[in-house]
Amino acid sequence: MKTLLVTGVSGLLGLNLSLRFGEKYRIIGIGNQMRLQNIPFEMQQRDFLLPDAAERLLDETQPDAVIHCAALANLEACEKEPEGAMRLNGEFPGELARAAASKNVPLIHISTDAVFDGQQKKDGGYTEEDQPNPINVYAVTKLAGERNVLDANPNALVARVNFYGWSLSGRRSLCEFFYNNLAAGKSSNGFTDVFFCPLYVNDLAEILEKLLSRKTSGLLHVFGSDVLTKFEFGQAIATQFGFDPTLVQPVSWQEGGLSAARSPYLIMNTARLRGILGEELPGKVSGLSHLYQDRRAGLPEKLKSFRVD
Ligand SMILES: NC(=O)c1ccc[n+]([C@@H]2O[C@H](COP(=O)([O-])OP(=O)(O)OC[C@H]3O[C@@H](n4cnc5c(N)ncnc54)[C@H](OP(=O)(O)O)[C@@H]3O)[C@@H](O)[C@H]2O)c1
Repeated sequence: MKTLLVTGVSGLLGLNLSLRFGEKYRIIGIGNQMRLQNIPFEMQQRDFLLPDAAERLLDETQPDAVIHCAALANLEACEKEPEGAMRLNGEFPGELARAAASKNVPLIHISTDAVFDGQQKKDGGYTEEDQPNPINVYAVTKLAGERNVLDANPNALVARVNFYGWSLSGRRSLCEFFYNNLAAGKSSNGFTDVFFCPLYVNDLAEILEKLLSRKTSGLLHVFGSDVLTKFEFGQAIATQFGFDPTLVQPVSWQEGGLSAARSPYLIMNTARLRGILGEELPGKVSGLSHLYQDRRAGLPEKLKSFRVD
């Protein structure tokens, strides 16, 4: 069995992906501060802010492939810690890509739709050729990371993504924000002026698995087929789980008290991905139905059982 190194394994994407890939690969998951218990794969704790972290990581784990999910992915935290965010999101990915290139190890680096300013609705959505224009610290650092990865290692895949799902904390994802409030009968705010094309995290994991096995390289948009506002997403969660959709209140993101600016129209073109896979991509209905099925199958409880409180 080949060894797959997954960084950010305690995070929303890294954990779901590791559970899914675990059927086909021996997983070595890398976390930082969060400790996990009873997980069905090997885990190590490392701090990528330390010098030579990338080189040592690959030397000591000897993986056959790497999926790099670790990041400072909280937009408000990035505004408060711009230097740490640039080190982790911008510089470290380039060092990891260089180390992977020198050992000929395939690498998928995870990036974001937030590299675009999303100031206007672009016909057909943003393509991989469109010029990014980041408008907050998180996005500036993630764009630096993309460029450093591809400069150091043109064989790497840089996947721009946006996703939702069940997390270790039960609070990491936008879908959990809406679900938790709706389940408690509380109202919550949904932005009517922020559009996105999210994938359910396990649908994203399935696509990444195909891209890894096909050795895809370069910059790639990996998004769902439907465009929706965060308000519509909240209402769709309510409908999917049988809650009252009027509990989700329509508001502008500018009323949300957020310190980091948001890109309003993150409508993404996925023609390249569809061409590579030769199939249509999952949309809102199938993603939310998978989210619902995984909840019924006990995934949130399973994830919580991995936590060491
Ligand atoms: N969530 C989204 O909606 C979204 C949207 C677009 C793109 N993305 C991108 O997708 C990727 C995964 O995001 P996510 O939401 O799954 O992230 P997340 O839940 O915030 O998890 C971040 C992970 O990074 C690890 N990490 C943080 N600092 C580290 C350090 N100094 N050294 C080593 N590891 C460190 C964390 O470890 P500990 O928890 O153990 O400290 C955690 O495992 C990121 O690249 C993000 O930019 C996310």
